[in-house]
Amino acid sequence: MYRRLLERSNSGSRIDQRFLEYIKPDHPLLTTLQQSMPGTYRHSILVGSMAASAGQKIGVNADLIRCIAYYHDVGKITRPELYTEGQSGDRTKLGAITTRDELAAILFHPRGSQFILSDNDFPAEVLIAVAEHHGDIMTRLRIDEKLKKKLTLNELYYPGPRPSSKESAIVMLADSAEAVLNRTRLSQGWPTDPTREFIKAIVHRVGGELRHAGQFKDAEFSRFEQWSVEESLMWWMYRYYHGLDVVSTPYPQSK
Ligand SMILES: [Fe+2]
Ligand SMILES: [Fe+2]
Repeated sequence: MYRRLLERSNSGSRIDQRFLEYIKPDHPLLTTLQQSMPGTYRHSILVGSMAASAGQKIGVNADLIRCIAYYHDVGKITRPELYTEGQSGDRTKLGAITTRDELAAILFHPRGSQFILSDNDFPAEVLIAVAEHHGDIMTRLRIDEKLKKKLTLNELYYPGPRPSSKESAIVMLADSAEAVLNRTRLSQGWPTDPTREFIKAIVHRVGGELRHAGQFKDAEFSRFEQWSVEESLMWWMYRYYHGLDVVSTPYPQSK
């Protein structure tokens, strides 16, 4: 019976053995991330679970997705104090970035992740994708007004490259959606009972912005695949926020 359950949850896709040793909970680098940055660890596992589940729906490599997601932010480990998910208290009240050095360090973290994984002999697909997880988008960070006046436009952008595979694009989408949903959850705009439509609107807006900024051009990630992934992310997050395993149908639209 359990074997049948496992087969069904993999929906016919084969397990890719190349990534299994890296996504084991006791991998030394994952353990280090868990102990040094529990907030980032939680975010990475969440992104890995929702992105892998969405990836299965469109038949791409879910084990590769999980591996990319678990380690995409490991580069933050060199300066954990710069990142909001590692802070205590109300992070919506955290100050804006005030120095050029802090901003540059944050925008460098995808490359930092790549360097750390390269030193630990991770597979090439994972090295490539972690460096791509913010593409070359403009940062959404809050920057102090005085500093903003001194910066050139280039200094506000992640260095890229853009995602070059569907798996990399799905991690980027799930990572951005999770970050924006989490930020909204800590703001006044979060309802006590977020509906499916509320979550869907945020996920689709984030996805639309990334496509509009050209982030999926090199990934052969079609609009239909993106739509399927966003629907899957929406359902996953809806169930996550409500602590649900199953959503009864028909879903009440007016709720
Ligand atoms: Fe990141
Ligand atoms: Fe992230």
